[in-house]
Amino acid sequence: MILTVHGLWKLPATVKERLAEAGADKTEICETGGYPIVYGEKIIDPALPTVLVYGHYDVQPADPIELWHSPPFEPVIKDGLVIARGAADDKGQMYMHVKAFEAMMQTDSLACNVKFMIEGEEETGSDSLGPFLENNKEKLAADVVLVSDTAMLSNDTPSLTVGLRGLSYVEVEVTGPDRDLHSGIYGGAVANPINILAQMITSLTDEDNRITVDGFYDNVAEVSDTERKAMNEAPFDLEEYKRDLDIADVHGEKGYTTLERTSIRPTLDVNGIWGGYTQPGAKTVLPSKAYAKISMRLVPNQSSDEITEKFKKHFRGLAPDCVKVKVTPHHGGEPAVTPIDSTAFQAASQAMEEAFGKKPIPMRGGGSIPIVSLFEKTLGLKTILMGFGLDSNKIHSPNENYGLFNYYKGIETIPLFFKHLAALSEK
Ligand code: BES
Ligand code: MN
Ligand code: MN
Repeated sequence: MILTVHGLWKLPATVKERLAEAGADKTEICETGGYPIVYGEKIIDPALPTVLVYGHYDVQPADPIELWHSPPFEPVIKDGLVIARGAADDKGQMYMHVKAFEAMMQTDSLACNVKFMIEGEEETGSDSLGPFLENNKEKLAADVVLVSDTAMLSNDTPSLTVGLRGLSYVEVEVTGPDRDLHSGIYGGAVANPINILAQMITSLTDEDNRITVDGFYDNVAEVSDTERKAMNEAPFDLEEYKRDLDIADVHGEKGYTTLERTSIRPTLDVNGIWGGYTQPGAKTVLPSKAYAKISMRLVPNQSSDEITEKFKKHFRGLAPDCVKVKVTPHHGGEPAVTPIDSTAFQAASQAMEEAFGKKPIPMRGGGSIPIVSLFEKTLGLKTILMGFGLDSNKIHSPNENYGLFNYYKGIETIPLFFKHLAALSEK
């Protein structure tokens, strides 16, 4: 594999080294078919609960680079924020666990056994992780998985993520004539694949912003009115939300609030669209091809493969005879919900309450961490999503940042989780 992403080839070694320095035993770089997985552990007493800490050292590409105010891979601290690609997602959050562990080792207060598994393919679908879990069930045996790779509602309103959306991702290609044509000679008589693709995409949602893919909502778990009511009681300022994004209004499925639209409802978004002439100036061309990348966020009980199949069938059916259509699936992932009545959840809740002085609100997140469902399926483990980020961290965007407050709060909260988990498990 060609390791082209900035600095990625050095990271596994650095993570391993820091884990070892912090006090982990058996640190190793586990080679996979792709980017390696870093492992380390500290087993203090087999009678104590074991926490499997998961994080990822890979990041999204930094582009568009020109929109960064400082180089993406040279972290700077400004106004209480660390600014760098990966500051929040997930290098910074993953590293809190290394530092929290180091602190527990130095103060001789590690209350549970701990295993670290830090991967390098989260942002590209965790392809190597599935086989790694399958082949290392014993090594990874634990009581719970702990992940800091999500956000809280705000620094004043701590929250714990109790659900994530799944993902279907497809790339579509629409072909008209077998070559680019003069748009004067042929225009008006031959289908323009960009025009056709735009029409096809438009028809994927209706006037209520519901997705029209046949059978798309078939398995969507409807959330009870009581739960929806509770969800909407979370402090959320729509005006501030709009101001932050510089938009005059929000947009989404009719009948649902912004908080619901970004958590319990599925979506369909075009992530990129291209084709034809895009260089400066004008070139009168009727292009041969048009492309788009389309993602669908899924909720329980939708299945990624099923939705991809439904999309394929529906999209092909939309194409008029004058074009050919190809749909290629990319990586996907299943939605996840985590229980709020488990000992581990209670421990996480108590830890956050102790650190923040406020009980955390259970909230579903809109993003996806496909491996959460894999942990459950392969290792039979539930996951605690104790992220300390904020939506304002600009993850996947230029000028990604992570608050020093959040970083230190995380380091403070993680040992409390260990402490409460051990105490609750004793009972
Ligand atoms: N850490 C994010 C997921 C996330 C962020 C969940 C904030 C909840 C709140 C993760 O690294 C991510 O970006 N996941 C991808 C999916 C992956 C298969 C590329 C995503 O959600 O787009
Ligand atoms: Mn992440
Ligand atoms: Mn990410």
